[in-house]
Amino acid sequence: MKQFTWGIIGPGKIANKFAIALTLVEGTSLGAVASRDIARAKSFAEAHNVPTIYDSYDQLAADPSIDAVYIATPHGYHAEHASLCLRHGKAVLCEKPMALSARQVGEMVDTARANNAFLMEAMWTRFLPLTEEITRQIADGQIGDLAISAPTSASPPPSTPPDASTTSASAAAPSSISASIPSSSVSIFSANPGRSPLPATSRQPAPTTPATPSSSLPKASSAVITSTLTCQTGLTAEIAGAHAAIHILSPWYRNDRFTIHKNNRDQAAGEPILIQLEPMINGFEYQIRETMNCVSTHLIESPKMSFDFSLLMARTMDTIRTQLGVKYPTE
Ligand SMILES: NC(=O)c1ccc[n+]([C@@H]2O[C@H](COP(=O)([O-])OP(=O)(O)OC[C@H]3O[C@@H](n4cnc5c(N)ncnc54)[C@H](OP(=O)(O)O)[C@@H]3O)[C@@H](O)[C@H]2O)c1
Repeated sequence: MKQFTWGIIGPGKIANKFAIALTLVEGTSLGAVASRDIARAKSFAEAHNVPTIYDSYDQLAADPSIDAVYIATPHGYHAEHASLCLRHGKAVLCEKPMALSARQVGEMVDTARANNAFLMEAMWTRFLPLTEEITRQIADGQIGDLAISAPTSASPPPSTPPDASTTSASAAAPSSISASIPSSSVSIFSANPGRSPLPATSRQPAPTTPATPSSSLPKASSAVITSTLTCQTGLTAEIAGAHAAIHILSPWYRNDRFTIHKNNRDQAAGEPILIQLEPMINGFEYQIRETMNCVSTHLIESPKMSFDFSLLMARTMDTIRTQLGVKYPTE
C-alpha cells in the first residue's frame, strides 16, 4: 500500500502534538514542514524526522509528494492557508476552529468542492473512542432520552489577556472564546443545537470573560456548556437520561473511561458500570486515520465531521461573539 504523506503548515505547539501522533499511525509519514522562519522549520524537522523543509507555505502546498496538509496556524489564517492547499488539490485537515466566521467556513467548503479536495475541521474529540462509545450507548437507548448534558471547560486566566480590538488578536487570540468548547461539547452528544445558544455572558474585556451558552437539543433535551478563562474548574462532564447517567472524570474531553450509573428509581440499579476504552497516543491519531480513510475512498467530506457541522459551529460562534460584542477588524 502506498505510504500516505502529510505536510504541516505552521510548526507551533499543536503541530508538535500532531507530529507525535503521526509517528504511531500505520501507513503514513510526515514528508514536509513549512514555516515562515526556516530555522523554525529546521528545528521542527529535526525533532520529528521530517525530510523536507520550506520557508514558504506556498511551496509546501505545491509539493506533489504531499497527500494531505495539516493547517496549524492561528485560526485567523485558516481560510487563507487551507484554501491555498485545496487549490493545489491537497486534502486538508484544518485546526479548529475552522475559521473566523461562518462566512469564511462557507468559502472554504466552496473551495474544497470546486477543487474536489478533502477538507475537515480537526475536531479531534469527535473521533475518540470515548465519543464513539458514548454515542453508541445513547443510540442503543442505554441512557434513555437525554434530559441534560453538562460539560464544563475552564482554564486559568492567561498571564497576558488578549486584546480583541487589534488585528493580531483577530489572528490568534479569539480562539480563547472560540469554537472548541461548544464544538467539543455538542459533538460528544452527536446532537445539533435546536436553537442558538443563549445567552453568552461577558464582562470586559470580552476574550477573558466567561461564555456560558446553553442550547436546546432534540427530543426536549438540554445542554449546559460552561466555558471560562477566569478560573480553573474540574473538567468533569455528565450526560443524564431517563434510564441512566454517564459520568466522565477529568478531563472529560479526552478520557479513556467513563461510568454508567443506572437510575436510582430502578431498584436493581446496582454499582456503576465502568467502561474502559483502548489507550490513546494523544488523541490526535483518530482524526488522522479518519482523514486517511476518507481520502482513500475519494471522499471530500467526512461523514463524521461534515461541512454542515463545521458551518453550524461557526454560526454558533458568530452568535456568541455577537452576544459578547466581539467584532474582528476583518468583518
Ligand atoms: N486541537 C486542539 O485541541 C487545539 C489546541 C490548541 C490550539 N489549537 C489550534 O491550533 C492552531 C495553532 O495553535 P498553536 O497553539 O499551535 O499556536 P502556535 O504555537 O502559536 O503556532 C502557530 C503557528 O502558526 C504560524 N503562524 C502563521 N502566521 C502566524 C501569525 N500571524 N501569528 C502567529 N503564528 C503564525 C507560526 O508558524 P511559523 O511562523 O513557523 O510559520 C506558528 O508556529 C490554532 O488554530 C488553535 O486554535 C487547537
